[in-house]
Amino acid sequence: MNVRAIVVDPGAPASLRIGEVPEPEPEAGQAVVEVRHASVNFGEVRYAGHQPPGTVLGYDAAGVVVRAAADGSGPARGSRVVAFGPGAWSQRAAFATGDLAEVPESVALADAASLPLAGITALRTLRAAGSVLGRRVLITGASGGVGRTAVQLARRAGAYVIASVGSPARGEGLAALGADEVVIGLDSITDPVDVVLENVGGSHLVRAWELLKPGGNLQSIGWASGEPAVFPPNSIFTLGAAKSLNSFGDATRVGPDLVTLIRLVERGELSPEVGWRGPWGRVAEAVEALFGRRVPGKIVLDVPPLEEA
Ligand SMILES: NC(=O)c1ccc[n+]([C@@H]2O[C@H](COP(=O)([O-])OP(=O)(O)OC[C@H]3O[C@@H](n4cnc5c(N)ncnc54)[C@H](OP(=O)(O)O)[C@@H]3O)[C@@H](O)[C@H]2O)c1
Repeated sequence: MNVRAIVVDPGAPASLRIGEVPEPEPEAGQAVVEVRHASVNFGEVRYAGHQPPGTVLGYDAAGVVVRAAADGSGPARGSRVVAFGPGAWSQRAAFATGDLAEVPESVALADAASLPLAGITALRTLRAAGSVLGRRVLITGASGGVGRTAVQLARRAGAYVIASVGSPARGEGLAALGADEVVIGLDSITDPVDVVLENVGGSHLVRAWELLKPGGNLQSIGWASGEPAVFPPNSIFTLGAAKSLNSFGDATRVGPDLVTLIRLVERGELSPEVGWRGPWGRVAEAVEALFGRRVPGKIVLDVPPLEEA
């Protein structure tokens, strides 16, 4: 049987169109999910046109298990789940059971779909930075999907949170999410910080490194600006305890972290920040809004059921 999916087409707007693909054949450790909602991440759409035509795009989805994993692992048929894995933007997608979490009735599947990559990235980089209790944490690109989640998690973890955005409008809502300070760019920050979660790259990376205390840690998450970072000579050098910069790229075995994120949402301790929601046929419009920096948080696409597609 064929299903519909968002596939790469270099000639289409945003290099994406809805096409038909065969229903996925799951491996023994994979469950097949009827996807109801999917979310969009910056990196996957920025480089969509570089993928082979016909590739089913996307990583984040939420829906209902229609075929449990053959090896007996993971949730039963009929379970509501959130999932992470390649080829997610399809009416049916196969996900490793280690990359799934069940979603309670009290959490909307559309909200759950917004969580995977952005949530895991915020959670894992914050965890990698160590305890932030009573520490000054700077989050750049705080208006975006990773940023809005990171602001909330850092605040919950006891940090003093400084959220950096590109304009006053982009800072709206961040104080309510837990930011102690919302700043435009980084020039107004004078006191050093203990931790940076850095999403923008370029001059933000250089300035954020300068702001880092001796012994501090910078998590280099993304490079949304696409600009080069030019470090002045000797600017890496610090007297005293060494500063560190970590890359991030480990989105493997995410099931337990998805469980954590869903539990936080269920308790009202994490707000899924859906800034744009619409039918998947409007994906190109949504991507344009994302690149235009007009989406506060995540894009969620509604996926039609098989018979309506
Ligand atoms: N390493 C990993 O595994 C991993 C995982 C997830 C995401 N990422 C990367 O992390 C970054 C943030 O991801 P995200 O999902 O939060 O993206 P997003 O929702 O698009 O947010 C990116 C933010 O960066 C800021 N920005 C500054 N200059 C920009 C520019 N020239 N173009 C676009 N945005 C610009 C924007 O804030 P203002 O408009 O307020 O300036 C925007 O809100 C992206 O680069 C993404 O690819 C990496």
